[in-house]
Amino acid sequence: MLGVVTFDIHDVTPVRPFLKWAGGKRQLLPALRPCYPAAFNRYIEPFLGSGAVFFDIVESGRLRGRPAVLADLNVDLIGCYRALRDETDAVIEALEALDGEHRKRGAECYYEVRERFNARKAGGASKAAMFVYLNRTGFNGLFRLNRSGAFNVPAGRYSNPRICDAEHLRAVARAFGAPGVSIECAPFEATLSGAGARDFVYCDPPYAPLSRTASFAQYTAAGFTARHQRELQQAVVAAARRGAVVLLSNSSAPEIEEAYAGEEARRAGLIVRRVPARRAINSLASRRGPVVELIVSNAAHVRGGLRMAKSPLRIARPGARTASGD
Ligand SMILES: C[S@@+](CC[C@H](N)C(=O)[O-])C[C@H]1O[C@@H](n2cnc3c(N)ncnc32)[C@H](O)[C@@H]1O
Repeated sequence: MLGVVTFDIHDVTPVRPFLKWAGGKRQLLPALRPCYPAAFNRYIEPFLGSGAVFFDIVESGRLRGRPAVLADLNVDLIGCYRALRDETDAVIEALEALDGEHRKRGAECYYEVRERFNARKAGGASKAAMFVYLNRTGFNGLFRLNRSGAFNVPAGRYSNPRICDAEHLRAVARAFGAPGVSIECAPFEATLSGAGARDFVYCDPPYAPLSRTASFAQYTAAGFTARHQRELQQAVVAAARRGAVVLLSNSSAPEIEEAYAGEEARRAGLIVRRVPARRAINSLASRRGPVVELIVSNAAHVRGGLRMAKSPLRIARPGARTASGD
């Protein structure tokens, strides 16, 4: 008699970000991965966005069984993730309906949904579906609010956008619903204040602009100012001192480089590396050239690697070789 093998499709569906997100870190993963600690207590991500690093950690099996605190200040984003976790079928059903409507009416449907999205204050499955729909069909997948807090991104020009991938959405819902995973709408200060010894913290704040004319992603109505960057540096240094393993990415704006290569950060064990990256936020394709970004970490193996290289520099220049080879 043949044995019956039960095969759960969800177990093999890879999880990855399902939203397009300005500053999403999928392209930076090869540079970030060498800084993941082999073991940790909890995973904490205060600037979740599309969750590229969270999903990478889930996919690599590192999170298995460990608690995670996922947070972001964008109330619509967090509302969408929670609804997807708690009302998966209802979100998928509503999104499939929007998908069908979009195929018939295109941009007209987009602007109608945008109006309904802005009018609806409560969260829930229907608002979550609108959020995903606007993200998949809006211009460059941007999330931008005007001064009164209304979402104002114009329609994108996609001939055949992938709006609803039900199987993938179910896999994401399962990752969010795993025991010990919490999803919070919170400012970074609150999320970071709970990080303690052996917690693994990944911070990916809105990048400090490299120039005054640099394009800027207005993720929240409050924006992210130079003061926020300074407060974040303080919170990161404090978490590192409490024994958390910290990993942070940011632009190579001079004030950021100075803040994380300075004496206080160095004493907390933080090392700054410069890595080449591709910037994709600019609406002009010609301005999406290569840039240098910063990766800051106090992971013991990263610090050890640089020490072994006997580098007197705390800031590794692009192309500089370290003993760890990354
Ligand atoms: C660069 S994005 C993160 C991208 C993410 N790593 C990814 O892979 O998609 C920065 C995120 O910080 C969030 N944010 C902005 N200000 C914040 C604050 N004060 N506290 C917490 N999150 C904030 C934004 O909503 C945005 O999602």
